[in-house]
Amino acid sequence: MNRLVPLPLPVALLAIVILAPAVPRAQQAPSQVVAQTPPMGWNSWNYFATKVDDKGVRAAADEIVTSGMKDAGYIYVNIDDSWEGERDSNGVLHTNSKFPDMKALADYVHSKGLKIGIYSGPGTKTCGGYAASLEHEDQDAKMYAEWGIDYLKYDLCSFIPDVMEKQAPNDKAAEMRLMHEAYARMGKALKATGRPIVYSFCQYGWDAVWEWGPALGANSWRTTDDINPHWDRIYAILEQQEGLEEYAGPGRWNDPDMLEVGNGKLSLDENRAHFSMWAMLAAPLLAGNDLTNMKPEVKAVLTNRDVIALDQDPLGKQASRIYSEGEVEVWTRPLSGGALAVAVLNAGDNRYSTHPFHLDLAKLGLHGTQQGKDLWSGKAVELTGNMPLEIAKHEVLLVRIAAPK
Ligand code: GAL
Repeated sequence: MNRLVPLPLPVALLAIVILAPAVPRAQQAPSQVVAQTPPMGWNSWNYFATKVDDKGVRAAADEIVTSGMKDAGYIYVNIDDSWEGERDSNGVLHTNSKFPDMKALADYVHSKGLKIGIYSGPGTKTCGGYAASLEHEDQDAKMYAEWGIDYLKYDLCSFIPDVMEKQAPNDKAAEMRLMHEAYARMGKALKATGRPIVYSFCQYGWDAVWEWGPALGANSWRTTDDINPHWDRIYAILEQQEGLEEYAGPGRWNDPDMLEVGNGKLSLDENRAHFSMWAMLAAPLLAGNDLTNMKPEVKAVLTNRDVIALDQDPLGKQASRIYSEGEVEVWTRPLSGGALAVAVLNAGDNRYSTHPFHLDLAKLGLHGTQQGKDLWSGKAVELTGNMPLEIAKHEVLLVRIAAPK
């Protein structure tokens, strides 16, 4: 019997619908669900500034893989300012000679199992004076998607004089409205591409961006002016994060700026304290150092799995500063599964280990002896009420308590 009897058309169509294999997830329309935990990766600006080029980005991607950073969670390779060339008569923005073929570069980064990010701004020019996206938002977003871009940092800069101050002189509220609209425009343009692209606002925290940024599509927003590799600046930024914890959560993060771990003359304690506190803050962890010349001690800081797990905790709650005494501060962060992270930071220059700090567990809502893990020594630690702690200048004690009482 011939089994290949043709089916009547409607039956055949029904059979196709029923029998067709489910479309694999990767081929389905991409969703915009990104940054469910704070984005992790590397950005060119803090070390290379405008000296970044195609070769340097490829080298960074290679190094992220070989150093073990990729396995530790660093995924985004982000090109900051200075990739941009000129717009042609059709308004198409071209790369400059440092980046001969952005699509090929994106393909290379993707071939390593990583993602790639880029930079622009809502004004005519970026902070470095390169072409930005004003009146070309849709066109630029489309081009990013065609290249395969996964992350956009959008920096206010020349939008201030170009648009805000020009169109609404001496009217702060109107200036801010223009700024909101500009970020909304690019947010819509990115969404319209259908490609999941992390949208990172960089407007230095103006107009309490944490209140309105997420509604305009922000996955993260800078909360302050720029970081630099000096303890005083890192600490000043940390202090500005207090009170912002209620705005952070899966898909939307306060961004106290990219990491300076391994840059400048930061000591090991300072690198650890900076990294620890950014993890406590559920901050994006974007390394900003020269990965090809990374010292082993810097790599050890950046790849500390326990501290990364703290940053990436799925609950997505940001730490609060509970109390401070002199120059020592105590922050706590609630973690999934009822765990708790405690950071005791000696932020100042004057208190040395000869002047122990007494950790008051009751102030943290804890009762009696707590069993924890010191995330830098990797050892078990017992915290007892009012225990004296010897914490050196710019050092942090970072403890995870699995079952706080
Ligand atoms: C600044 C921004 C920096 C960097 C720089 C590039 O406004 O805060 O992170 O992107 O512009 O010109």
